[in-house]
Amino acid sequence: MNDRVYISDLKNHIDAKVTLSGWVYRNRPSGKVVFLVVRDGTGLCQCIVEKSKIDEELFGQLKKLGQESSLRVTGVVRAEERSTGGVELGVTAAEIVDVSEDYPITPKSHGVDFLLRHRHLHLRSQRQWSIGKVRHTVIDAVRRFFNDDGFTLVDTPIFTGTVGEGEQTLFEVDYFGSPLYLAQTGQLYLESAAMSYGKVYCFGPTFRAEKSKTRRHLTEFWMVEPEVAYIELPELLELAENFVTSIIQAVLKNNRSELEALGADIEALEKIGAPFVRLTYSEVVDILTGPKAAKFMTDQLAGFKAEKDTIETRIAELEQPQQGLKKWQQDKNAAELLELQSELTELNRKIENNPKHAQLAADFKWGRDLGGSDETIISLMHEKPVFVTHYPRDVKAFYMKKDRGDEKVVLNFDMLAPKGFGEVIGGSIREDDYDLMMDRINALGYNPDDYSWYMDLRKYGSVPHGGFGLGIERTVAWITGEKHIRQCIAFPRMMDKVHI
Ligand code: 4AD
Ligand code: MG
Repeated sequence: MNDRVYISDLKNHIDAKVTLSGWVYRNRPSGKVVFLVVRDGTGLCQCIVEKSKIDEELFGQLKKLGQESSLRVTGVVRAEERSTGGVELGVTAAEIVDVSEDYPITPKSHGVDFLLRHRHLHLRSQRQWSIGKVRHTVIDAVRRFFNDDGFTLVDTPIFTGTVGEGEQTLFEVDYFGSPLYLAQTGQLYLESAAMSYGKVYCFGPTFRAEKSKTRRHLTEFWMVEPEVAYIELPELLELAENFVTSIIQAVLKNNRSELEALGADIEALEKIGAPFVRLTYSEVVDILTGPKAAKFMTDQLAGFKAEKDTIETRIAELEQPQQGLKKWQQDKNAAELLELQSELTELNRKIENNPKHAQLAADFKWGRDLGGSDETIISLMHEKPVFVTHYPRDVKAFYMKKDRGDEKVVLNFDMLAPKGFGEVIGGSIREDDYDLMMDRINALGYNPDDYSWYMDLRKYGSVPHGGFGLGIERTVAWITGEKHIRQCIAFPRMMDKVHI
């Protein structure tokens, strides 16, 4: 056998004889030719097996070879513009490594639950593979940005004794007989490290006992958090803006074909760059309760209804009896029908929710936290990410710094991704005054003993400082256009079920 070559590298081996090691992604036998689409982890390659060119018995075996069977296949690389990757393989020899029969995930559509139960196999699908590739780039870009900008990585603990983001979402664990919590954030530890290194970041899994089963919540997710000593809100926003832009640029550079395969809105991503939109919470309240949002919601409803008509027409077409169609065409239509039916359900839900969300926005009262639907409206109204700053103090975490010019609000920001995606980043300047921080801890009923080390930071050389946290799964979902963040981590953990 020849030296192993990866599919992603085939274009550098035109006319050479190579061996691929992979799995059968699709098998389309047709008389004297078998069209095998092989995947090897780096891409897909159409391999053409002609009966006249290989051993007859082997041809018979390849013809029947099931989806996800593993094999080594040798052949000559040919340039072929119409094929994925611009090449195909003219097969001269093959070695079947393992025969796979009745692979549970077929090219037809499956329900979400079924796929989650088969996640260990579903990871091999093109869609999951592409999302994983984008995630890889996002994480690489995150580290690169901070490493190149003089930040020091500090790994913060997962077992913690402090409440970071509110006691409602704490996971308590029995730590040798005493209760501890799984980290909701690395921030408090990071603040102390920032007083040593100046600019730091942590990056790891984060745990929240979220009781909501929304598309934006996982109970275990990955968060990157930078923290900077001597920083004020305007510079913090600039940091977030440059950081997010660098992530988008990296994905556009490295994952264009994955973005295309996923149907991501590449044009919209290309528009992401500084400056992002900056609105205060109070301005957002004015928008939500004003005529612009009302009109926006009415137009949106009309759009949904038009979309519904189009989908219903196509469904009716597909439901007509289809005679004389080839098996693969029938499968393709069945898959499209399933897809459209799920889109229709989603659309009906949106049509039902639109008036409720419009009402919630119109009735919004200053002092309330922005709900998911409010965030969606604001982010749908903008093409670029929106920073919403200066939230009412009572709806935000205890550590946020009170605005000395307006004591009702804190110096914080959320970054809402555009196109309705919603919050991807939360951050703030931290309270650096000892007495104000102590008042807050007491007011919330936290045990001051648990926070004595945190209070020391306000005692020994306290400085203005701040940072933010960006959720990796939400970022990947936004970039790829994936609706549910559970698809953006290999093995998702949600409130209702841990499938595998
Ligand atoms: O807004 P959050 O709660 O902020 C913090 O944890 C701060 N301590 C960060 C900091 O200032 N250092 O969370 C930050 C981000 C959110 O914007 C969101 O992207 C993500 O973490 N996130 C979640 N992602 C998935 N599932 C959940 N349940 C999430 N909760 C937050
Ligand atoms: Mg938040």
